[in-house]
Amino acid sequence: MTQKVKNGRILINNEWNEAQSGKTFPVLNPSTEEKLADVAEGDQADVDRAVVAARRAFETGPWKKMSARDRGRIIYRLAQLVDKHKDELAELETLNNGKPIFETKNADLPLSIDCFEYYAGLADKIHGDTIPVTGEFFNYTLREPAGVVGQIIPWNFPLLMAAWKLGPALATGCTVVLKPAEQTPLTALRLGELLVEAGLPPGVVNIVPGFGPTAGAAIARHMDVDKVAFTGSTEVGKMVMKMAAESNIKRVSLELGGKAPNIVFADADLDAAAAGAMMGIFFNQGEVCCAGSRLYVEEKVKDEFLAKFKARAESLPLGDPMDPKTRMGAQVSEEQFKKILGYIETGKREGAKVLTGGGAAANKGYFVKPTIFSDVKDEMTIAREEIFGPVVGAMTFTNTDDLIRRANNTMYGLSAGIWTRDIGKAHRLAKEVKAGTVWVNCYNCFDAASPFGGFKQSGFGRELGKYALELYTQVKSVWVSLN
Ligand code: NAI
Ligand code: MG
Repeated sequence: MTQKVKNGRILINNEWNEAQSGKTFPVLNPSTEEKLADVAEGDQADVDRAVVAARRAFETGPWKKMSARDRGRIIYRLAQLVDKHKDELAELETLNNGKPIFETKNADLPLSIDCFEYYAGLADKIHGDTIPVTGEFFNYTLREPAGVVGQIIPWNFPLLMAAWKLGPALATGCTVVLKPAEQTPLTALRLGELLVEAGLPPGVVNIVPGFGPTAGAAIARHMDVDKVAFTGSTEVGKMVMKMAAESNIKRVSLELGGKAPNIVFADADLDAAAAGAMMGIFFNQGEVCCAGSRLYVEEKVKDEFLAKFKARAESLPLGDPMDPKTRMGAQVSEEQFKKILGYIETGKREGAKVLTGGGAAANKGYFVKPTIFSDVKDEMTIAREEIFGPVVGAMTFTNTDDLIRRANNTMYGLSAGIWTRDIGKAHRLAKEVKAGTVWVNCYNCFDAASPFGGFKQSGFGRELGKYALELYTQVKSVWVSLN
């Protein structure tokens, strides 16, 4: 399988480089714990070179002079190249991340291609306004690119997160230094090859694999990076904001953790809700920032609902992620695996009941059994902290006002799910829940056109759709005297 890994180097100015330090780091297959590749370990020196390339490309390169429509054409060619190589990319993603090939083929790849296509089409539709000001003036706004953008992305959807970041940055005419997560740099590097093939001018996208405290921090505190976009933990999000503040006040957007309430009313279609609860917590092994990890079930249907949910969880085929029948793969790393198992033990210790699962699933590879806890209380650790694994805590409610207060009683606010046949109740709750995305009678729905992002400590700024243009442009107001 390792022959699929062609490239483990740093992309600067459309050229592939070793790290200046000469260092590399091993990248593993989490389902076998075997090494897939040695990848160049970029750090401050490589980030510095990448920023110089991005700055030159932004200020003086052909990218600056190119029409927005031609930028769109290049992004479209990239979308077509990703489409052409989708099977290879899906396999590479599954090997590196541990998620099932079923998911990479049916979610990660189609969503990444859609994202590039969407921003290809949007590139020439970005414009300012004319504003009817008082007095003899003509006033208009220009939407200009933010400049050199640093993008630091996580390991849970490696290629898709690269697409969410690169699509709008390229559509707006920014240039980029992208740092993939150290666990999963391989699809971003393959994407770099496709970017060059698509005709992107040198320096427009530079890709520096490496670790957070070195390469990531070098981006966040760089004096010549105009904006940093980060997806990852709330803890590191705070550090990125601080580094931005202490360096050059670069603009920041953050997409951080979550602890989403998924709310099942007695009047819901309970089979659909059980399928949705499954999708909400077991999709991508629960390594999803918007995972429905707090399950609130109306008391009177608790037993019926949990029986359905448990049966479904126990029927999930777990195993070799490359097997098309597999629906539960491996967690991304030993660190995450151990963290999840630690939370499962904490849940047991604090008095929650294991309805199903409750531990590791294999001797080799980082597999965790789909785990449902019942009799969970709001104040338990597993109901408050982001686990980022296939572990859900079920709680019950009787009163809707009380439920809303409990659902909102979290530092996070990324997403929420609501299951009911009562449309009035659905819309009222959709308004009252403090979250950037609300799914009614569905879960984990995504489209390149619809915005995604957090309230509270889940971050700020909206990715996707036209909303992402705000992240990568700045507005200039121009006054012209008419006298
Ligand atoms: P992390 O936040 O440390 O890593 C995410 C990205 O930030 C990676 O590219 C990493 O190299 C980079 N990074 C790490 N430290 C940095 C620093 N000091 N300066 C700049 N960049 C830095 O997340 P980690 O440690 O991989 O996972 C820990 C927890 O974070 C997970 O268990 C999960 O709860 C949460 N998480 C949330 C994600 C989301 O989608 N919102 C994605 C990944 C993790
Ligand atoms: Mg970390």
